[in-house]
Amino acid sequence: MGESFPGRLGALLQFNKRRRFAMYQEEVMVPIGDWAKTRLSRLSDTDKIRDVSRVGSGFGKNISNWIGRDKAYPTNVLHLATECNNKNHSAAFPEELPQWFIKLFTKPSDTVLDPFMGSGTTIFAANKMKRNAIGIEIVPEYYDMVNSNCKKKESYLLEKGVEYASVANQ
Ligand SMILES: C[S@@+](CC[C@H](N)C(=O)[O-])C[C@H]1O[C@@H](n2cnc3c(N)ncnc32)[C@H](O)[C@@H]1O
Repeated sequence: MGESFPGRLGALLQFNKRRRFAMYQEEVMVPIGDWAKTRLSRLSDTDKIRDVSRVGSGFGKNISNWIGRDKAYPTNVLHLATECNNKNHSAAFPEELPQWFIKLFTKPSDTVLDPFMGSGTTIFAANKMKRNAIGIEIVPEYYDMVNSNCKKKESYLLEKGVEYASVANQ
């Protein structure tokens, strides 16, 4: 995510190991709203057939299937408050952000990995949503903070006190 100033957009990149991957779009559907009345009253020819994604993911959509529905897929811009509850990390995410992606890509009991855990927003969100969570963090103080705040089943400190500057100078 980019700089988190009010009204500013940040880009989110998604990387997948395989072309086909789990995605539960129905979990993040939004109320269809009034815009749909206009959109669905002017369907193009492409809207009436299954328009297959050009990236080869196998996903596709047929807009005419939305007629009569009260929920639709969201756009690819998420509108979230930039405030977050955790003031002990300079770049903490608002919890809604990981929540949205956890809903989209996982089911309860799946495992969420955050390789840049920071203050643990993703880990806490995942646990609340009944997912397993693994966090990796290079700064021991953040590790300790998350470790003392989460109801964990297991936690590991994989490295003890490595001085990266001195290792780099060898
Ligand atoms: C943008 S912050 C993550 C903030 C987090 N999402 C939150 O809500 O608090 C990135 C975190 O990655 C950690 N980090 C940077 N390089 C790392 C590395 N090589 N391995 C593990 N953690 C790293 C930083 O210490 C920092 O806490």
